Amino acid sequence: MVNQKPFHKTHIFLSLLVFTNVALLVTSKSTIEPCANSDSCNALLGYTVYTELKVSEVASLFQIDPIALLTANAIDISYPDVENHILPSQLFLKIPIVCSCVDGIRKSVSTHYKTRPSDTLASIADSIYSGLVSADQIREANSISDPSVLDVGQTLVVPLPCTCFNGTDNSLPAIYLSYVVTPVDTLAWIAARYSTTLSDLMNVNAMGSTAIKASDILAIPLPACASNFPRYAADYGLIVPNGSYAITASHCLQCSCGPGNLNLYCQPASLAVSCSSMQCRNSNLMVGNVTVQQSGGGCNVTSCNYGGFVNGSIITTLSTSLQPRCPGAQKFPPLIAPPTSVIRDTTFAPSPAPQSDGAGGTGAPKSSSSVPSTTSMLPGLAPIGGPAGSASGSASDACSLINPLANFPTAVLLLLYVKFMMAIL
Ligand SMILES: *[C@@H]1O[C@H](CO)[C@@H](O)[C@H](O)[C@H]1NC(C)=O
Ligand SMILES: *[C@@H]1O[C@H](CO)[C@@H](O)[C@H](O)[C@H]1NC(C)=O
Ligand SMILES: *[C@@H]1O[C@H](CO)[C@@H](O)[C@H](O)[C@H]1NC(C)=O
Ligand SMILES: *[C@@H]1O[C@H](CO)[C@@H](O)[C@H](O)[C@H]1NC(C)=O
Ligand SMILES: *[C@@H]1O[C@H](CO)[C@@H](O)[C@H](O)[C@H]1NC(C)=O
Repeated sequence: MVNQKPFHKTHIFLSLLVFTNVALLVTSKSTIEPCANSDSCNALLGYTVYTELKVSEVASLFQIDPIALLTANAIDISYPDVENHILPSQLFLKIPIVCSCVDGIRKSVSTHYKTRPSDTLASIADSIYSGLVSADQIREANSISDPSVLDVGQTLVVPLPCTCFNGTDNSLPAIYLSYVVTPVDTLAWIAARYSTTLSDLMNVNAMGSTAIKASDILAIPLPACASNFPRYAADYGLIVPNGSYAITASHCLQCSCGPGNLNLYCQPASLAVSCSSMQCRNSNLMVGNVTVQQSGGGCNVTSCNYGGFVNGSIITTLSTSLQPRCPGAQKFPPLIAPPTSVIRDTTFAPSPAPQSDGAGGTGAPKSSSSVPSTTSMLPGLAPIGGPAGSASGSASDACSLINPLANFPTAVLLLLYVKFMMAIL
């Protein structure tokens, strides 16, 4: 069972190569995941707020629940009138979306946009949806013959990129973030920012080198807590990334992931809504309650767990297990106050790393990793994480370490070899 997954991914990987080769000829890159059936899954979009917008306005751009938007970003929902809180321009948010399977390819098609005066396909794509879609993709999805005449009030489908890869990455639960590369990004910076590795990012995105360019869309795997709800549950497939929350069961339950472990933990939400019983049968425990009892052989842990939302009822399961040690109190991901300004994230800002010495001197970069400026980025988009000069300097350092991989066929063989080794291990 465990050994099957890498083989399966290799298969996907091969298919990706074929697709990517075709895609390369056309336009900017995004990861394409073939899919077979009509199952949908959960994914995230990396979205940059284009102007000051209320929480509810951002949510309605994607037709999602404002509370789901807040919890996905670990924003405290107990603030009064939080849905009308105004989010600052250029704030980066994770948008939880449903990822469907359309014509054999994973994509999100649940987003619709009603045009307003002065909208153009380019402004909708590049600004309002922050580069997650291109003007051409909107034009195609809506069979628009003349993009220069957009009727005001016309409802457009906005196809958005998403991937699921079966909710796993290297056999561990993961949710995928569709991330629009900015002019100052390097693959090394993105890997550090999202606590993943260069090779994992390259593998997931079927890349032959670490070169990325602005407006490429990368799939970034985020470690997550998976649920195990039955297929007929309304929230089947719920998956919560480490460090965040999700609201489910008609706002009755709140589930969190991390920081201590990657076990999904659900408990009653503090929102004032009426809910069906959350008590476990034959016990006085509520969903989220855990009791421990020291016994000779270890610690007897009884917990009342959430098992999915079925026909308007909250399914609960009581489980008892003997564990070597009693678990400590449940820990929760830290919540943040509704943001009022964009804090520049300097934690992972590229800086001249010790790497540059080991990588063979300070000579000119061997491969072109500088980002071309011929992109459709917003004029107002400030570089995040420091001056562009230092960013690209570091990029070349990071790239020269991986330079042998820039040779595409070699990279393919290498990666397949790694995959193969992983499969037999
Ligand atoms: C998808 O993942 C599940 C476990 O999360 C596993 O049981 C199933 O076999 C996987 N399917 C494929 C096609 O890899
Ligand atoms: C989850 O997040 C916490 C806090 O950010 C981190 O310490 C921990 O290593 C993460 N766990 C995984 C598996 O990524
Ligand atoms: C059970 O959970 C409820 C709601 O989260 C909480 O109020 C209560 O104190 C818990 N009871 C025990 C015994 O832990
Ligand atoms: C563990 O606790 C449960 C409920 O309190 C009890 O039914 C069970 O017998 C206990 N098991 C052991 C091994 O002590
Ligand atoms: C949900 O309710 C409908 C009718 O009320 C019933 O036919 C169906 O079997 C129920 N589904 C489950 C999973 O209980």
